[in-house]
Amino acid sequence: MFLVPGSSSSVIAALASLLLASNTNALDNGLARTPPMGWNSWNAVRCTVNETIVRAAADHLVESGLAAAGYEYVVLDDCWQAYERGADGALRSHPTKFPSGIKALASYVRSKGLKFGLYGSPGTRTCAMIYDKYPGVGLGSKGHEQQDADTWAAWGVQYLKYDWCLADKDGLVHRPAFEKMRDALVATGKAGEITYSISEYGHTKPWTWAAPVANLWRTTADIQPRWDSVARIIESQAALAGTSAPGAWNDPDMLQIGNGKFTPEETRSHVAMWAMLAAPLMVGTLVEKLPQQTIEVLTNKRLVAIDQDVLGKQAARVQQTAGLDLWTRELSGGRQAIAVFNTGNSTQSVTIALGQDAALTDVWTGEAVAHGTAKVTKQVKPHDTAVFTRQSVGDVSIAIA
Ligand code: GLA
Repeated sequence: MFLVPGSSSSVIAALASLLLASNTNALDNGLARTPPMGWNSWNAVRCTVNETIVRAAADHLVESGLAAAGYEYVVLDDCWQAYERGADGALRSHPTKFPSGIKALASYVRSKGLKFGLYGSPGTRTCAMIYDKYPGVGLGSKGHEQQDADTWAAWGVQYLKYDWCLADKDGLVHRPAFEKMRDALVATGKAGEITYSISEYGHTKPWTWAAPVANLWRTTADIQPRWDSVARIIESQAALAGTSAPGAWNDPDMLQIGNGKFTPEETRSHVAMWAMLAAPLMVGTLVEKLPQQTIEVLTNKRLVAIDQDVLGKQAARVQQTAGLDLWTRELSGGRQAIAVFNTGNSTQSVTIALGQDAALTDVWTGEAVAHGTAKVTKQVKPHDTAVFTRQSVGDVSIAIA
């Protein structure tokens, strides 16, 4: 590393990049080089999940074009378990909801060209046992870590969501408990095939310690199918710029679009801001019920490319003006993504000032805008987000037009 003598800003930048490098010493399983994309059962059906629903989710990911756009994981969340472990102590699937068993379900998902994920918890209880009255006993992995990892690996699980659920009440401590399962996955010999997603809702600031432990970590409490929840999560992610990297992602939770009552603009912003944040894109609704307009948002090639950019740098919020938030994200190849998010309740006419390079691509339409001018003016509706990319990284600012 070279420092320009006497330049305190270079020294600070160098120290910052050293710190970042040590912080992003990602879990060495070779997985999740870009944020995971797929479908998860929880937001869609919670504890009413069964194997028909999961198979249908795999079918519909393929039929809708979502799979071709990159949505590859089908994750079966909580409530897949039989209420008790078997006589040998092993977890089993619920006999009537999953009569064919998890191994067969995972094979079915794989036969569609997709990958299969499953849910577990480090303590004695899963979250549904605590919050959804799931009548299980001892379904968390405490004391069964290796046995459960072996079971999941033998079933062909390719993504583990390992969810805290008050495990502190069982005497566990976050980091060592999550490391224990990481190491159990390694001991199965299949760690290179199992993306490891941990969830403790951001309570212990996992972005400061979890990069060597897991591929992704939740940063917030559970997302709800309401705009205020989505908006609050976006706001809370502004402080986390610089804390994720390939193989080690901040996870602001699964998508809620298709659930609740989101306007078309809110739907766009939810996906657009998750893409800016380099967040996992996990669809959490029944895909067959999504209107074509929403499928088009989810499969927008330019937007997905921002989310999946190999540099893996999540966006930073660089300006707030009159209810408009300006976020920028450095992309590979010296490019930049720019988002203007209208957090307010009225349409705003915004001027985006770009310095020298004003050649922008509108991510929603694919159109080139503003060649040869240094300013672009755009109407942004309430809760909508204008998103652009450009071929260089540079200063950007916004003003009300
Ligand atoms: C927690 C998690 C959710 C979901 C449920 C399942 O609330 O945060 O994403 O996995 O548990 O019970």
